[in-house]
Amino acid sequence: MRIFLTGARGMVGQNLLECPGLGVHEWLTPDRRELDLRDQASVVRWLKEHKPEMILHAAGRVGGIQANIESPVEFLIENLDLGRNILMGAYEAGIERVLNLGSTCMYPRAAVNPLREDMVLQGALEPTNEGYALAKVMTQRLGAYLNREYGTRYKTLIPCNLYGRWDKFDPERSHLVPAVLRKLHEAKTKASPTVEIWGAGTARREFMDAADLADFMIQAISRYDELPDLMNVGLGYDFEINEYYYEGAKVVGYTGAFQHNLSKPVGMQQKLADVQRLRQFGWTAPTTLATGMARAYEFYLNQNRGLE
Ligand SMILES: NC(=O)c1ccc[n+]([C@@H]2O[C@H](COP(=O)([O-])OP(=O)(O)OC[C@H]3O[C@@H](n4cnc5c(N)ncnc54)[C@H](OP(=O)(O)O)[C@@H]3O)[C@@H](O)[C@H]2O)c1
Repeated sequence: MRIFLTGARGMVGQNLLECPGLGVHEWLTPDRRELDLRDQASVVRWLKEHKPEMILHAAGRVGGIQANIESPVEFLIENLDLGRNILMGAYEAGIERVLNLGSTCMYPRAAVNPLREDMVLQGALEPTNEGYALAKVMTQRLGAYLNREYGTRYKTLIPCNLYGRWDKFDPERSHLVPAVLRKLHEAKTKASPTVEIWGAGTARREFMDAADLADFMIQAISRYDELPDLMNVGLGYDFEINEYYYEGAKVVGYTGAFQHNLSKPVGMQQKLADVQRLRQFGWTAPTTLATGMARAYEFYLNQNRGLE
């Protein structure tokens, strides 16, 4: 199959392109200089010219809490423009299948865990990343409307939090797992006796290796018709923040102590995706936290040595 992968240079895209089983398909992976997905006319022209049979939409403006708080306009507009251009462009170019990536921030702030797909739009969103989340919800709904009105078969996956190879380790942009690995690596290098954890570390987080999402997506491509229109892709379980630090310390070889700073904010207590639909589809994430964190740490070390 000819597949157009958007965001091919991002974490999800790179993990997908490293996945075994890729070779049976032909991949179209233009970068932003070749095709800026914000430009509607260019997207339509490009799709009509290259006629992919399927689009995997893994491009987006992605960032941490601080960036989301500071730039809600950019997070809303860019993600909405990308989603709209891809879906409307696909429709105009006669491309029937689009697999779009959402995010668990599409779920209402007060939704009860585990988060089921039918809870989307059942309540107010988390204010800190509302712009990003609204764009994700609107893109998913636009896909559903196109299916209903014009008979397309556009689907959205909602992955849980991701980490892994090709993650961002700089403190400005990193999420929990790369931030933990970097902090522990630096503490080990400087022989710091303690590492600080914000809050009691008992809040729970679900992080999946991006290589596992890639593995799932390869299966989803070949079994596209069996996929529901909206489906979470998660682990089905989560870990305490403390456990990410303990596992990280083993991986990095940090032997110091942890100190909890109870004056710092901890965020949501839990955000765990329901995996009933995923289990019905017949897939379980294969990578353990220990293996995934070791792989991410190796990537970080190689990057520092200029090997990745
Ligand atoms: N990371 C997570 O924890 C997570 C969790 C759940 C869902 N997701 C979803 O998965 C998708 C991919 O995430 P990711 O972590 O791989 O993000 P990422 O590493 O930041 O990659 C995003 C990619 O999108 C590209 N892009 C952005 N704007 C573009 C534009 N106007 N034209 C062309 N390309 C553009 C970027 O290109 P440049 O390199 O040129 O900027 C980059 O390659 C996103 O939709 C995200 O919401 C991610």
